[in-house]
Amino acid sequence: MKRPVRKAILPVAGLGTRFLPATKAQPKEMLTIIDKPTIQFAVEEAIEAGITHLIFIIGRTKRSIADHFDSNPELDMLLRSKDKDALADQLNSIVPKDVACIYFRQAEALGLGHAVACAAPVIDEDEPFAVLLADDLMRADVPVLKQMIDIYDNTGRSLVAVEPVDQDKVESYGIVDADLPEVGSWGRLRGVIEKPKPADAPSNQAIVGRYILDGSIMRLLKDQKPGAGGEIQLTDAISKLVAGPGVDAYRFHGRRYDCGSKLGFIECTMASALEHPEYGQPTRALMQSLLAREM
Ligand code: UTP
Repeated sequence: MKRPVRKAILPVAGLGTRFLPATKAQPKEMLTIIDKPTIQFAVEEAIEAGITHLIFIIGRTKRSIADHFDSNPELDMLLRSKDKDALADQLNSIVPKDVACIYFRQAEALGLGHAVACAAPVIDEDEPFAVLLADDLMRADVPVLKQMIDIYDNTGRSLVAVEPVDQDKVESYGIVDADLPEVGSWGRLRGVIEKPKPADAPSNQAIVGRYILDGSIMRLLKDQKPGAGGEIQLTDAISKLVAGPGVDAYRFHGRRYDCGSKLGFIECTMASALEHPEYGQPTRALMQSLLAREM
């Protein structure tokens, strides 16, 4: 009998060099889309998918993440004294009381695979777990992780979320060898290559930041040697799972914003502003007047 997916690892210990100087003293996952840090979108997605243990892998700039998901009694009192109870309640419910937050420190940014392996002490060999990268901000009617857990509940096999990328972008991703003709398809992965040259890429289907992984991957990660870019790559360990218990790839329903890149971050901010119930209309007017000025 397979165990349900209840734990999620959220690695937030990368250096975020593409966003310097903003990320000199804070993790890039604390950068906000309007008024919400990208890590909070990932946490909300995980909670909606039924996750009860959030495991953060934090780096040197650790405090703000732990503070953000902790209670703040002084702020709570102040807001209530100003009749802002709804806002105070909203802040208190970011992480419900029955969801636990666990923090591990990654002393050195040695790669995503190394970051995930930092959580090994709380993952059993036979326990599946999720990984969410807050950089990939997902918008979907059914949260992407929930879509994936529904598939996992039927198959009991590790699962990675993928989407097609332009041929000139394959060098930035883990690229899978799998037949996934349309959105909503999922199927067995024959192989995966981290950051291939376009000529070596088995397809244009790229792994994006949502995974459900077999607990046994922790053992594989322990012995994983550095791969592409000199980093300990999660993809290389996934490739070993392919040869063992097997892995599926899933073309999810929804939209991904690559908030790890500046242009993706700008796109996500603009789309969120346009969809905003209060600021959508004024944002549209602002954009039109800015574009008119360009002409
Ligand atoms: P990235 O490679 O996209 O993030 O890692 P980065 O290295 O922080 O960013 P740049 O390229 O320098 O701008 C993907 C995810 O893995 C985490 C990052 O925080 C990010 O969420 N990560 C990466 C770690 O936690 N530890 C690492 O050693 C590497």
